[in-house]
Amino acid sequence: MVSATQLPAWKALQEHYETAKDLKLTDLFAQDPNRFKTFARQLHLNFQPPRGGNTNPHDANLLLDVSKNLITDETLSLLFQLAREAKVEEWRDKMFAGEPINFTEQRSVLHVALRNLPDTPIYAEGQNVVPEVHAVLDHMRETSEAIRSGSWTGYTGERITDVVNIGIGGSDLGPVMVTEALAHYADDSRLRAHFVSNIDGTHLAETLKKCRPESTLFIVASKTFTTQETITNAHSARRWFLDHAKHEAHIAKHFVALSTNTAKVTEFGIAKENMFQFWDWVGGRYSLWSAIGLSIAIYVGFDKFESLLAGGHAMDQHFRNTPLEENLPALLAVIGVWYNDFFGAQSVALLPYDQYLSRFAAYFQQGDMESNGKFVTRDGQEVDYQTGPIIWGEPGTNGQHAFYQLIHQGTKLIPADFIATTHSFNPIGNGEHHDILLSNYFAQPEALMRGKSADQVRAELQRDPASANWDAEQVQRVLPHKVFKGNRPTNSLLIDPCLHPFALGALIALYEHKIFVQGIIWNINSFDQWGVELGKQLAKKILPELAVDAAADFKPVTSHDSSTNGLINYYRQAKVRGHL
Ligand code: F6P
Repeated sequence: MVSATQLPAWKALQEHYETAKDLKLTDLFAQDPNRFKTFARQLHLNFQPPRGGNTNPHDANLLLDVSKNLITDETLSLLFQLAREAKVEEWRDKMFAGEPINFTEQRSVLHVALRNLPDTPIYAEGQNVVPEVHAVLDHMRETSEAIRSGSWTGYTGERITDVVNIGIGGSDLGPVMVTEALAHYADDSRLRAHFVSNIDGTHLAETLKKCRPESTLFIVASKTFTTQETITNAHSARRWFLDHAKHEAHIAKHFVALSTNTAKVTEFGIAKENMFQFWDWVGGRYSLWSAIGLSIAIYVGFDKFESLLAGGHAMDQHFRNTPLEENLPALLAVIGVWYNDFFGAQSVALLPYDQYLSRFAAYFQQGDMESNGKFVTRDGQEVDYQTGPIIWGEPGTNGQHAFYQLIHQGTKLIPADFIATTHSFNPIGNGEHHDILLSNYFAQPEALMRGKSADQVRAELQRDPASANWDAEQVQRVLPHKVFKGNRPTNSLLIDPCLHPFALGALIALYEHKIFVQGIIWNINSFDQWGVELGKQLAKKILPELAVDAAADFKPVTSHDSSTNGLINYYRQAKVRGHL
């Protein structure tokens, strides 16, 4: 394929940008009283899991307002033309058809199959994967129900009270984000979920302080079962457990594995029946829908986990079957491309006005940055345009008191997504908290758009008794600092009624597909992650060099550059001195 920049729509967008860059959001609203109507999309999703018995809500309404963006009808139509010229629809169909679109690893990309609750077949390399997916879901249901009911007991006959998921990256961030997001549904106060990811011994040590071996279940979550952090943490947890339980036979009741690697799981000593399989065609950062979600199913119950899958599936159907113009993931994606590639924006802020989504931005840091942080096209050429943005964010209103200053008055353009729900699970103060929260959710995009002019600031200073008598020099000294340029673009997403599991599933899938569409437009492979390998290789080489023998003469390490040598030797000397 030619470079994305050579596509007719890209060239047309470049030309269009020359006028669009001077658009003023406030003018656009003044000129068109119907702007909200034109640029907001409402989506009603519903999908009842076919197997019956699940009485959770299985529908949700999404309102996505993109009217506060520096776009016109022409911008959107060119952006969708770009998506079509980049063959987004064809690639979308290839993904759902199980074609090995992750070509550097020769793999299909089928996380959509994990939430395909109907029996409709989905093929990877000619094989229908749905029966296997459903078999693992059955296994997860059985185990999570046994743990929640107390029929799964530990080696002393006690019920399980603490579940410790040991995993990292995609084998951690999804379950962490979702268990936090669905904490409202954690209906059994006897059950706690913990997550250990960091190789820093502190993470495991501080977690184990809260657990008792008799009633703790360790879930070793690793697609490859070779990840150094996870396997080291798992072995340390095993030692801690055996220090108390004494007999290896007890491991069966306290360790389960989520992995694609049966041989390594067996080698670790985890019984086959305690292994929950998933497959190469599940990318780590898309794996929360797989067996990797076991901690979620235990924490909130399998039906809730199934509802999460149903929400993801409903969004998949929308993404697959809706023309791009009405397709929410595609809409978010092309607007992101507009700022990333034409306005030169470096980052995107994800700002959920929902405490339950406190790990949402952290989750999509991996989802987006590991997917689209690539500099080479699918054809192996270096790109001559920008690819994936930096993703960051914190829940509102905390962010307002931390970094919003820079979004409002800094020198960088930071497109931001504001996310909220119409209803709170915790309407304390008669709903007052939620109204205050939402007043901020509405106000911030408005403020970012409108800004405040020098004339407005002057009028305010004149109205304020504290500054009403200032002379011209005093006014001038303060005035520029109170000016907001405004014209900062935002998307607003409102979920109605609340963040129940179905709605959360839909929300996560919405962003996954947004990332997919952008990756296709940028002509990169969004599904590998070679960029994390080099550091791992070098750490492996360095690890043996860190050993020191206090008795022997100190022989400095010299095999690196002087900086790396200097840092390593400083550490080794400190080890020789030993001070703990
Ligand atoms: O950080 C690289 C990575 O491969 C991620 O893509 C993945 O989610 C994580 O490591 C953990 O891998 P695994 O599940 O194989 O332990």
